[in-house]
Amino acid sequence: MTAPIAIVSALHEELAAVLALMPDEQQQTVGGRTFWRGHLHGHEVVAVLSGIGKVAAATTATVLIERFGVQRIVFTGVAGGLGDGVNVGDVVVAKQFLQHDMDASPIFARHEVPGYGRSTFDADAALTAQLARASEGMLRELPVHVPDAVRSAFGLHAPTCHRGLLISGDRFVSTTAESKALRRELPAALAVEMEGAAFAQVCHDYQVPLAVVRTISDRSDDSAHVDFPRFLREVASRYSAAIIDALLTRP
Ligand code: ADE
Repeated sequence: MTAPIAIVSALHEELAAVLALMPDEQQQTVGGRTFWRGHLHGHEVVAVLSGIGKVAAATTATVLIERFGVQRIVFTGVAGGLGDGVNVGDVVVAKQFLQHDMDASPIFARHEVPGYGRSTFDADAALTAQLARASEGMLRELPVHVPDAVRSAFGLHAPTCHRGLLISGDRFVSTTAESKALRRELPAALAVEMEGAAFAQVCHDYQVPLAVVRTISDRSDDSAHVDFPRFLREVASRYSAAIIDALLTRP
């Protein structure tokens, strides 16, 4: 039997598709969260919703490690695109994480996490390489996973997989002014979401490997809210399920 792996999503629609792949899941509630323990392709899995935002994410990561003894964490979710060419329907696999709203200046440098002497945390290289392979494979076979009508409704023609910096903060970025400011301040950032960097800090504390994949649901601009629930239901949940299925199918 393998060491337990955590599969985490931020939103119910994404996790539902993953749970549907687990034949034997059993629920357990800890800290007001429901954790589903079960198996997927022979792997012992603990699946959970992270909740939204950095505090909810940090609590979830800590419970997964302390209570459930998970030895790897994989996070699937959605994010707003920031980098040039990071479009709706693309996928971003994180290599580093940063909290864009961390600011203890002038005591510490802007974005530096006090006590750590750094502003970025790394994803686990080996797990991230596996997750990127699974994501690229899913995109290559997109018509198998996402029906034609949905692909054309969202203009998903040839989505690509990007790897790099993912930034997190306790804010849904939904104005062009704000996304421009983030792009100016953090030009390497590919996408923005609300949990990844919190998971990365906790995983750093416990030395637990982390990999994060995010489907781009919007461009973090004035139209960021348009069709968001439909995108989650019809695109992001299918991407997540296909990526996790491929990831855990491999040895
Ligand atoms: N998750 C998906 N889109 C996002 C955005 N624009 N800002 C923050 N988190 C997101």
